[in-house]
Amino acid sequence: MIRSVLKGAGSALPKRAVSNAELAKTVDTSDEWIRERTGITNRYIAGEGETTGSLATAAARAALADAGIDAGEVDLIVLATATPDSTFPATATQVQAALGCHGAAFDVAAVCSGFLYALATADAMLRTGLARTALVIGAETFSRILDWEDRTTCVLFGDGAGAFVLRAEDVTEDGPGVLASRLHADGQHRELLYVDGGPSTTGTVGKVRMKGREVFRHAVVNLAQVLEEVLEATGTAAEDVDWVVPHQANLRILDATARKLGLPAEKVVVTVDRHANTSAASVPLAFDVARRDGRIKPGDLVMLEAMGGGFTWGASLLRV
Ligand code: UT7
Repeated sequence: MIRSVLKGAGSALPKRAVSNAELAKTVDTSDEWIRERTGITNRYIAGEGETTGSLATAAARAALADAGIDAGEVDLIVLATATPDSTFPATATQVQAALGCHGAAFDVAAVCSGFLYALATADAMLRTGLARTALVIGAETFSRILDWEDRTTCVLFGDGAGAFVLRAEDVTEDGPGVLASRLHADGQHRELLYVDGGPSTTGTVGKVRMKGREVFRHAVVNLAQVLEEVLEATGTAAEDVDWVVPHQANLRILDATARKLGLPAEKVVVTVDRHANTSAASVPLAFDVARRDGRIKPGDLVMLEAMGGGFTWGASLLRV
């Protein structure tokens, strides 16, 4: 059977790390509040010359090097972002130009679950023969759309990028690859998490607005449901999953979701402490950290999941 097999992963962060204590100098907050409510201690903030496109390109290069695959072999780039370099062209096309590759390139907008949407899209295209070697990227510079006077949002996010190289390969049933994905959206909840601007409405970029407590409540319910769906679709028992790589929004959401599924906390990859919420970048960034430090190994069964603005949410089960 043809599956999208993970050949490599990579990630990139801006140069500047910003601690909670440093933030508390300009925002009415404290290290204690941020740590207790979210688990975040640090985030990276893009500086001059660092953009979603430049971070995405760096992550893509790292993933290609990890895969040992030349950029010339890539014939598809799907880039998930809510903070593109420009309204158009798609940031994916700028990554394509920087890498010097060809084929299709486009962006996917599903905010924090963007990487899951991008992965499922690329997987479908690879399995149906529309492409052979894909770069799937999640990249964001949320710092550029934060209201730095709004302490209920600005302390929560960070910038970064992560990338997967996937290749269509003929594998056996128990072989590697993306086993199943499930995606959902419910547009009724726009007001709970949105950006108050856009090219066709205000003609401005806008800032992030969020009713955090309500988003939290929906996140735990929706994530548990979509994880169950993917387990059922693949006939997998929760205890057979080696690692869960969740969207890194809040340590309390990660814990609550794992508890609901009966998964031990030791199987959940946590990077929210050092990266904060990097939206579409958070899942591939966390995956890359856990693979490079030797936790995620070849043959492991890894569940990826995310939930974000829209609402949108999704999950994928991958055998590495
Ligand atoms: O990635 C997309 C999905 N996003 C999420 O999943 C985010 C989900 N939500 C959350 O992670 C949490 O709801 C937050 C971390 C955003 C907030 O935590 P919470 O425990 O739900 O706090 P809260 O919003 O109920 O606020 C509690 C108090 C409030 O004060 P009062 O009204 O109780 O006096 C806030 O004004 O904390 C206050 N507060 C702060 N205090 C210090 C809010 N932000 C801050 C802050 N520093 N940065």
